[in-house]
Amino acid sequence: MSTRKPLIAANWKMYKTPSQSSEFVTAFLPLVQHHTRDEIVLCPPFVDIAAVVAGTRGSHIHVGGQNMIWQEEGAFTGEISAPMLLACGCSHVILGHSERRQFFGETDETVNKKLHAALKHKLTPIVCVGELLAERESGKTEEVLLRQTSKGLAGVAPDLAQSIVIAYEPVWAIGTGKTATPEMAAEAHRIIREQVARSLNRDIADKMRILYGGSVKPENASALMSQKEIDGALVGGASLDPQSFSKIVLY
Ligand code: 13P
Repeated sequence: MSTRKPLIAANWKMYKTPSQSSEFVTAFLPLVQHHTRDEIVLCPPFVDIAAVVAGTRGSHIHVGGQNMIWQEEGAFTGEISAPMLLACGCSHVILGHSERRQFFGETDETVNKKLHAALKHKLTPIVCVGELLAERESGKTEEVLLRQTSKGLAGVAPDLAQSIVIAYEPVWAIGTGKTATPEMAAEAHRIIREQVARSLNRDIADKMRILYGGSVKPENASALMSQKEIDGALVGGASLDPQSFSKIVLY
């Protein structure tokens, strides 16, 4: 029996205003009120964090940022730091999402710097990895996962690494309605976990939560979660609606 507490996180991407976020929280909280089996995290756009933190205060719901920079402050127009996320009430942060890698120049090296900063400030990092369709089709999935995981974790001290969460998000499954089969996801998770054992150690690898992301829906959540390698989900589109996201949380 795994001791890993499942984590179900909503990545709202660039959706919802503060008032829409508040409406979501008002509808969502009663649906998951007594649910403590899973850790639940909402990651809204930066401008909605205050509304979500206010709406979830006193509940067991956590709030996370979708990105941050590694510096603490400075002349970095448009950026947000770990101390700022913490000061707003965040406990988690998504790092290295494929959309950041694809559209905003995120690399394994910048993900690694951000990971070090998140750990220093005691934010729980959710580090995203995953192959492109062309990489899967040319048999490079394992190579990509090994590279992203080892470079992402470079230089992390094992005693600081306990809180790290990894999200396996095959890029071809994001927002496409195509989901990796539970077996494909489990195989990718095994590859990632073995690399974590090499980069850190076996004990941390065994305890590390590895989430699956990519077209997770109420209809496929329980099949995915029934794989013992899958320790939760990072949900995009289906997390925008309180009913739909609650069904995933209650899989
Ligand atoms: P979808 O659930 O919309 O496919 O998005 C997945 C994702 O990118 C979560 O971070």
